[in-house]
Amino acid sequence: MMIVRLPPPWALLHRPNTAVRVFSLLTSPPSTAVVYDEHGPPDAVCKVKELPPVRIKDDDVCVRLLAAPINPSDINRIQGVYPVRPPLPAVGGYEGVGEVHSIGSAVKGLSPGDWVIPSPPSSGTWQTYVVKDQNVWHKIEKSTPMEYAASITVNPLTALRMLEDFVDLKPGDAVVQNGATSIVGQCLVQLARVRGIRSINIIRDRAGSDEAKEKLINLGADQVFTESQLEVKNVKSLLADVPEPALGFNCVGGNAASLVLKFLKQGGTMVTYGGMSKKPITVSTSSFIFKDLSLRGFWLQKWMSSDKAKECRVMIDYLLSLARESKLTYEMELVAFNEFQSALDKALGKLGSQPKQVIKF
Ligand SMILES: NC(=O)c1ccc[n+]([C@@H]2O[C@H](COP(=O)([O-])OP(=O)(O)OC[C@H]3O[C@@H](n4cnc5c(N)ncnc54)[C@H](OP(=O)(O)O)[C@@H]3O)[C@@H](O)[C@H]2O)c1
Repeated sequence: MMIVRLPPPWALLHRPNTAVRVFSLLTSPPSTAVVYDEHGPPDAVCKVKELPPVRIKDDDVCVRLLAAPINPSDINRIQGVYPVRPPLPAVGGYEGVGEVHSIGSAVKGLSPGDWVIPSPPSSGTWQTYVVKDQNVWHKIEKSTPMEYAASITVNPLTALRMLEDFVDLKPGDAVVQNGATSIVGQCLVQLARVRGIRSINIIRDRAGSDEAKEKLINLGADQVFTESQLEVKNVKSLLADVPEPALGFNCVGGNAASLVLKFLKQGGTMVTYGGMSKKPITVSTSSFIFKDLSLRGFWLQKWMSSDKAKECRVMIDYLLSLARESKLTYEMELVAFNEFQSALDKALGKLGSQPKQVIKF
């Protein structure tokens, strides 16, 4: 029997005339990743580990991650309370931006050095190298600020869709929202402004709420109230020249959701997309009988089901262009990967209100 000894992959990489065989044996570099083997408190179950190289198949693209945010849904996936979760063990993260490192032999339209985002997003962005099929990756302009490229899908796209998909709004109309300091909230203010829609914003009472109010006004918010400022008999008496809103957004629940409902006009709609306070929504009987309010929900992951993938990329390009022109801005803190644990603590709210944490690899 003849034994054929193949040279190791790295030896082939340096032989110029072996291109076809090189591709079939190409592997990624080892990846440093935030891995969880079980569900639980993220600060207890997440470990930074070295993962072995992965084979790059003909249609695969190996991407060196540049940045990825820590979103509330990432936390929920790790806790095991999100409805759709990657199988264990899993690498954290769901969106991010990276640079193409190497490509399989059948890849078209992408070259090493290009910037790409997974679109629709997919699990496993908290690591230094990811290998996925070419269809996963959407090429973006390299002039985009890295932290915006990393975070453009989950929150800004949610804000865009929620403004478009529930009520037919016209310039001059108004919307109301709680959790206005969130990234979704900041995006809603600005995307509404781009369409001439005014916004009424509710934030929680906390240290720094005056500063948070001022920041939202600078982004284009028409009115900003803390929850305690709305402890009045008739919240609509505070509306000044802003019309009664037909559409409201709720990412908090509890009292903050009741306040959104109070602002809504007859026949208005409240869209719930998050539950940051973990408190239920309570709706008075009269809200249904006398105001005929509608309660709806939005979940981006469902909306982005594969038939929306193409449309989704057009919207992402639009949002990225706004970010490049500084027409869409939001607060973020870029944190070095070796400080992941402290970024996670901030994202978990252990240090009070903090800007969105974006890991820089
Ligand atoms: N349904 C969907 O498809 C979808 C898509 C994207 C996001 N979301 C949800 O949208 C929400 C916001 O996400 P994000 O990434 O934009 O948020 P973020 O930038 O990480 O900010 C967190 C927000 O939650 C507020 N918050 C934190 N703990 C709270 C508490 N105990 N009570 C009240 N408010 C609290 C913060 O207020 P302070 O500024 O006062 O700290 C801040 O406004 C999350 O619930 C997320 O899961 C849902």
